[in-house]
Amino acid sequence: MGVNLGFVVNNMLVLGIESSCDETGVALVQTHARGVPTLLAHALYSQIAMHQDFGGVVPELASRDHIRRVLPLTQEVLDASGKRLAEVDVVAYTRGPGLAGALLVGAGVACALGAALGKPVLGVHHLEGHLLSPFLSADPPEFPFVALLVSGGHTQLMRVDGVGQYAILGETIDDAAGEAFDKSAKLMGLGYPGGPALAHMAEAGNPAAYALPRPLLRSDNLDFSFAGLKTAVLVQAQRMVAAQAALHSGVPAPKAQANHGSSAGFELLPLELRADLAASTQAAIVEVLVKKSLIALKQTGLNRLVVAGGVGANRSLRTQLNAACAKRNIRVHYPELHLCTDNGAMIALAGAMRLQSGVQQATMRYAFDVKPRWPLDSL
Ligand code: KG4
Ligand code: ZN
Repeated sequence: MGVNLGFVVNNMLVLGIESSCDETGVALVQTHARGVPTLLAHALYSQIAMHQDFGGVVPELASRDHIRRVLPLTQEVLDASGKRLAEVDVVAYTRGPGLAGALLVGAGVACALGAALGKPVLGVHHLEGHLLSPFLSADPPEFPFVALLVSGGHTQLMRVDGVGQYAILGETIDDAAGEAFDKSAKLMGLGYPGGPALAHMAEAGNPAAYALPRPLLRSDNLDFSFAGLKTAVLVQAQRMVAAQAALHSGVPAPKAQANHGSSAGFELLPLELRADLAASTQAAIVEVLVKKSLIALKQTGLNRLVVAGGVGANRSLRTQLNAACAKRNIRVHYPELHLCTDNGAMIALAGAMRLQSGVQQATMRYAFDVKPRWPLDSL
């Protein structure tokens, strides 16, 4: 049974639940006759501290923690917005992509709430949430635009003509940009998730210190490849450790581990050297993202760029995109910094915008499934 959008789409309260990976997020948005829905409240619990000891996300622990957090966060959101659960009109949840067990928690809770309240539910694509999250910023974009979606698991350039109208222009053929940050950071002993830590360390370094590969940079197609970067970073880190050891004692450097953990001895190098490698790594990733975004804008003839996903929080990426786009009269839009990484607000928003635009109806079917793999352009 679908919701009749003709009359309920105004002043509708949409609860959103995100549980695709290592963040439990819940939010409440309100729709209006016109314009972007308003975010009334959102609450987030990050599992980063729990997974840190393991050097990455442990799926089973993630699922169990989502179970613990999701209802208290829902209550927190209701309290903060001054609304009652019974006033919620639609429950939206992340249906995929993500970790199957983690997704099942959000989907199960959303459908149970929907069934208990007698309200319809709506499964949302996680990446569509990221993509639409800049609409919650003070400077929201207008359709059409080119989107650069850079998260821990995805790197895509898209042409976006409206809600649900996504054409992929290019994407990574191996690692995502966030993965390139995280894997390089791990080699540098910066822990998990390494992106923000690497970015922080890079601030004190020289981005031109080491020449690292910028794969596919000169190709005209809009695909990315970041898998080679971590190997180049590892080789450079090993060279630096060996050079430092030779300089100080003549003792051979400890053997680096190629696949697991950090490059042995790298943490002991002087901070300036480590910062230089961090800055050079960031520069390689950022340069590719900026250049490919410019090519996409040129090819599509569009003059608006939307950047979304966790790596969109990267300050160097923002500075360089802003500078390059200002020169070409292109407007760049970002989500607010705290909504760049996973959150419930983007899921509530995407659910509300899909209902508003009529591309999807909420249903009273509470038998749920999740889609751990789910291409965005199949929506
Ligand atoms: O979008 P997101 O929260 O989760 C996924 O859907 O994957 O993105 C997480 C990714 C991680 O790889 C993380 O290291 C990266 O975003 N990230 C950053 C920064 N903040 C988060 N990478 C570089 N610089 C940052 N400031
Ligand atoms: Zn995400």
